[in-house]
Amino acid sequence: MDYGIENRLARIIKPKDGKTVMLAVDHGYFMGPTGGLENINKSITPLLEYADSLMLTRGILRSQIDPKIDIPIVLRVSGGTSILNDDLSDEDITVSMEDAVRLNVSAVALSIFIGSKNERQGIINLSKLVDKGYKYGIPVLAVTAVGREMGRDERYLSLAVRIAAETGASIVKTYYCEDFDRVVETCPVPVVVAGGKKTGESDALKLAYDAVKHGAAGVDMGRNIFQSEKPANMIKAVRAVVHEGIAPEEAYNKIYNNK
Ligand code: R5P
Repeated sequence: MDYGIENRLARIIKPKDGKTVMLAVDHGYFMGPTGGLENINKSITPLLEYADSLMLTRGILRSQIDPKIDIPIVLRVSGGTSILNDDLSDEDITVSMEDAVRLNVSAVALSIFIGSKNERQGIINLSKLVDKGYKYGIPVLAVTAVGREMGRDERYLSLAVRIAAETGASIVKTYYCEDFDRVVETCPVPVVVAGGKKTGESDALKLAYDAVKHGAAGVDMGRNIFQSEKPANMIKAVRAVVHEGIAPEEAYNKIYNNK
């Protein structure tokens, strides 16, 4: 066991139930000023008391997040492309591990694009990041990003998630799919689910519920929280689903709608 890695992971995935609600606000690293993230200090700070960790870039961390707020940070350390580019898979490591240490982060995050023309680059970058992470006791979250042309079925996601774990990631983020149990069962490390594009609140709560029911350690959710009409109610409802196993309909009515 590596004490630093285990200790940092325990700050993100809560040991009392093995679950986590990660709030993802890193979208700007390739999407620019995403709706709901125009002023992160104003829109996201009120949500932090309900999140188990915050995933973002170093530029936003340094400029927008009060260092006195006690929230585990998952630092996005890959990038190099933008939505103006057809191929989003051409990413590299963009932050040194020394800077991640300086920022006192609890984990670093990097995307891999299995099946893309830059598949190899992503896997090699992940392996280098894991090596560096072990040097400093910092766990790596691998994001299994899906290219425009790639499916999100169990076969593909199991492949991507397992490769991430084999390469040394301590947590893997992926998408929810049918037969999700198999994605989780064939991955030796915790799997968290991304929320994806904004949908209705009740659908997003159902996604979180189903993901956890089928083995996910929780969610790493962004747009379905910060683009919601009531972001604070939404993250509270997601928490209730993930940590208390409350049914999505009940979370929607009682917590999101406050009825
Ligand atoms: C991509 O920009 C990032 O990895 C996001 O953190 C991830 O997609 C989760 O955010 P959302 O729930 O909005 O998909």
